[in-house]
Amino acid sequence: MESSEIRKKFLQFFEERGHAVVKSSSLIPDDPSVLLTTAGMQQFKPYYIGKADPMKEFGSRNTASVQKCFRTSDIDEVGDKTHLTFFEMLGNFSFGGYFKRKAINWAYDFVVNILGLSRDRIYVTVFGGDEEVPFDKESYDIWHKEVGLPEENIKKHGREDNFWGPTGNEGPCGPTTEIYVDGVEIWNLVFNEYYCRSDKSLEKLEMPGVDTGMGLERLAVMLQGSGNVFETDLFHPLASVIREAKPGLEDRIVRVLADHLRSAIFLIADGVRPSNKEAGYILRRLLRRVLVYEIKHDIHAELFALAVPVIKNQYAKWYPEMENDREILNVMMDEKSKFEKALAQGVKEIEKYDAISAKDAFYIYETFGLPFELQKELVPDKTGELKKEDFDKEFEKHQEISRAGLEKKFGGHGLILDTGELKASTQEELEKVTRLHTATHLLQAALRKVVGDEVKQMGSDITAERLRFDFSFPRKLTSEELQKVEDLVNEVVQKDLLMSYKEMPLEEAKETGALFFFKEKYPDRVKVYYAGHNLDDAFSKEFCGGPHVTNTLKVGKFKITKQESVGAGVKRIRADVE
Ligand code: ALA
Repeated sequence: MESSEIRKKFLQFFEERGHAVVKSSSLIPDDPSVLLTTAGMQQFKPYYIGKADPMKEFGSRNTASVQKCFRTSDIDEVGDKTHLTFFEMLGNFSFGGYFKRKAINWAYDFVVNILGLSRDRIYVTVFGGDEEVPFDKESYDIWHKEVGLPEENIKKHGREDNFWGPTGNEGPCGPTTEIYVDGVEIWNLVFNEYYCRSDKSLEKLEMPGVDTGMGLERLAVMLQGSGNVFETDLFHPLASVIREAKPGLEDRIVRVLADHLRSAIFLIADGVRPSNKEAGYILRRLLRRVLVYEIKHDIHAELFALAVPVIKNQYAKWYPEMENDREILNVMMDEKSKFEKALAQGVKEIEKYDAISAKDAFYIYETFGLPFELQKELVPDKTGELKKEDFDKEFEKHQEISRAGLEKKFGGHGLILDTGELKASTQEELEKVTRLHTATHLLQAALRKVVGDEVKQMGSDITAERLRFDFSFPRKLTSEELQKVEDLVNEVVQKDLLMSYKEMPLEEAKETGALFFFKEKYPDRVKVYYAGHNLDDAFSKEFCGGPHVTNTLKVGKFKITKQESVGAGVKRIRADVE
């Protein structure tokens, strides 16, 4: 069964049963606490909680859609036969129209009678219950007594497997029942009985809802019998073009390229643009991975230009935004030229070292996007000693931070680093605020050298856009003084001083003359960060928890952008680094 037929049959089936067919929403969700659209229910959140009226909007309490989705959770698995970043999800939804009985019976009917998958290939799971939410006996009984599945084919699972939501900080959630065919999960039916608040507590919803999701690609694999999503009609055209561009290319590489090209094109069509933040950062990573593979695997064809028309031909009839092929390709080519510039800069940076360590290599990767293999290939004389396993260790360290960050993003305030003073929400922001943090130390030291020890820190706040430093000083600094401060910081940056720390008892730390922030309470042992070859005659020393760059050259060019007065005797400087 072709994928277009699957779409048609699904929507028709539910339309015939009183559902309004609704268009996919954009991959950029309305909900600011979610990076990208990951499920069909997202566009319907207001209807589940009575904030919007489905009758007014759709003329029905029930809807069905084929939704564009993007999930980063499987990105490291892409390259095998099944995992993807972008996919489409078939779903039927109800906001007070029907509940478990109809949802289960219809799903079963569709799978067996419309898709023609025989009953003995099916087993299902239901929510088994825990301290907070009871066993979903109703669904169990419907499967067993009405549908007639034998009890050994109805399994009970816990929260991790059979409870959905919420997407974002809060929202509808509830127990699920999942349909498996030949051991593969194909359909997830969610019964939104609760509202999950941001503190994770559950409140019973007045009007229960239904939210289901069935991956189109997975279904196509099942119905087209290939066992490989890249051989379904959804991927075959693009995969063929890639294979023609470079005959003999390893399967895994073809799959990564096909997945990333398709995903990137869909993201761009919905208005995502490459950047160092959030969804833009994900897009940048997808595009740059394609570009890296082009170099690494000697693909001389222009994959961006080859992929855009293939995806347009295939998808424009469902997604008119694909008609914008020129603009989409422009965005891709623009990113390509930025990447090429960054590569050249990365190579120049490596040339400055005698030999680079794994840590340096990781820094270069993060800053210029030059991956390990390309560093080895493009600058062999400086990378001879560099070992893949050491680089991977650095990489893993950072991935742990970023994974923790992503979890926070979905459950919390969206930052991977939040020390109170420093805030970052992506790996690249983390790198930037770290540079700005070191710059802040140098700024304070420079201020004291230029206008005197009266300068005392009153506050500091650092984001990826700028540093902001408040200090006590009775008058505004003249523009000459500001220029001197800026020049002094840049001079120190150029000296490439080491930035390191010593940990010691609080009293001892005070005796070193290191600066500390009087408003802060310090523990018995503190770290003293200093810029210089030793602590005694360091240019700057401060009590601090980090993080900092390892040497001042990494700060980059420092620029004061603004001076303000923020209250009696307190001045504020904003500055940035390039
Ligand atoms: N929202 C549910 C899912 O995405 C149906 O699995």
